[in-house]
Amino acid sequence: MVSKSSQTILSQAQPDFDLAGPVSHNPSYWHIRDRLNHLIGQYLAPEILNHNLIDLPQQFTHPKPRPWGAIDWKAISPDQIIGIDPQLFFSVVAASVEIEAPIRAYSLISRQYLGEIHPAITHFLSGCYDSEGQLIEMGVWEKEERQHAPAFRKIYQQLTGEDSSPTPNSIVELPSSGSVIKDAYRHSLRRITTEWSAVAVYLWLMAHSTGALQAAIAQPLQDEVNHLAKFWGISHWGFQDSLPLRCAGMTRQFASLFGHHREDRSNSSTVFTVRNLSYGPELGFSYLRILNQLCQWHMTLNNTLLYDLFGPRPFLQLEQSVSQ
Ligand SMILES: [Fe+2]
Ligand SMILES: [Fe+2]
Repeated sequence: MVSKSSQTILSQAQPDFDLAGPVSHNPSYWHIRDRLNHLIGQYLAPEILNHNLIDLPQQFTHPKPRPWGAIDWKAISPDQIIGIDPQLFFSVVAASVEIEAPIRAYSLISRQYLGEIHPAITHFLSGCYDSEGQLIEMGVWEKEERQHAPAFRKIYQQLTGEDSSPTPNSIVELPSSGSVIKDAYRHSLRRITTEWSAVAVYLWLMAHSTGALQAAIAQPLQDEVNHLAKFWGISHWGFQDSLPLRCAGMTRQFASLFGHHREDRSNSSTVFTVRNLSYGPELGFSYLRILNQLCQWHMTLNNTLLYDLFGPRPFLQLEQSVSQ
């Protein structure tokens, strides 16, 4: 029998309606799908994607990180996890800390691939260095991203009462194709794929949470959506690629990253279990539904809009046989 006081705690921790729509205390696969659809409507609406992309030229001239809303860290508690084994939720949060951790290394790799191709986007990603390799000004992307690992670490501590003791993700350098343009395109698709993956996983965590926990995850989530729209739009302007070529390349990058994280994450043995396979369709839906949303938005990115934002297109011609 549930005591009156614990009933009160439960109803405070799990409201009837939250950022993902109606809350079900024992959600089915279909409830989670509804919650993911609601979140995508809220956070990846075409107007939001447009706003994020249109902001990019202003970031080139007046760099300014996206401000975060207030997070009530102390109000985060494990009873805000819904419809999932809490251990799996903790493991995914801990894996997010590890993947978000080596942010300087990510920004330096982007610099290496994109520096010659587009100095402004390189500055947005990784800032400015002097001739001796000392950082003069941090890039906006790096400033935003470097908040994510500490945020997920704090969420993990609030949920479990322990530190996650993360092992930062190891960086994999892709072998060069011999073409600066092909390598830059492949790197751009990798950046887009990592942002897409972060959006898909964080939205899935939000579908399985409520209250202060869900609201906390919404902050890094909005950064990832912002980056995804910016990188998607400017790379389409720059490389003039077709949607099928882009989706095929992203699928290859996703397969490569999935294999890497399966080997590299310190808790992958607790995440990749037969029991957790039942969550695969939910995550698969999250990835595909977001990709569908992006593809629909892509159709609206016409030449006039992209020219107005970024000027004349550079000649970054990809060959038909490009391999990502
Ligand atoms: Fe991130
Ligand atoms: Fe991001």
